[in-house]
Amino acid sequence: MESETEFAELRAMHAADLGPIRQSLAGFLTGWAGGPRDWFAENPDKCMMSAHRGLGVTPETARQWVTCMTRAVEDCGIGDHDIGKLMLERFDMMAKGMARMPA
Ligand code: HEM
Repeated sequence: MESETEFAELRAMHAADLGPIRQSLAGFLTGWAGGPRDWFAENPDKCMMSAHRGLGVTPETARQWVTCMTRAVEDCGIGDHDIGKLMLERFDMMAKGMARMPA
């Protein structure tokens, strides 16, 4: 997302410092996928869909996000495994839902 112009619109939605989102996204996904739930303990009652309401997600920025996550899953070497495929399927569903939420 940082290095390719294809994702410029998505990058511009994020804070200048990507450190916090890197940490938060990794923490969320760790707990969401069944690992340690520290993120959920630190963010009680945070709903991921509600957290994106008002961010102005569009079908195009949702597409960019899913493309980035597809690359990330492939880079991790799990693109051909059930876990990778299932994660991407769910990411796509959530991203499309976020793009449809009222502002
Ligand atoms: C639909 C496409 C999406 C876009 C355009 C998008 C964009 C964003 C933006 C702009 C932020 C704020 C980051 C910042 O201020 O630097 C954010 C936060 C976050 N997003 Fe997304 N997002 C999308 C989908 C998702 C999905 C599907 C998930 C989970 C599977 C997710 C997980 C997170 C997490 C964990 C945070 C941090 C929340 C926090 O710490 O408060 N995002 N997202």
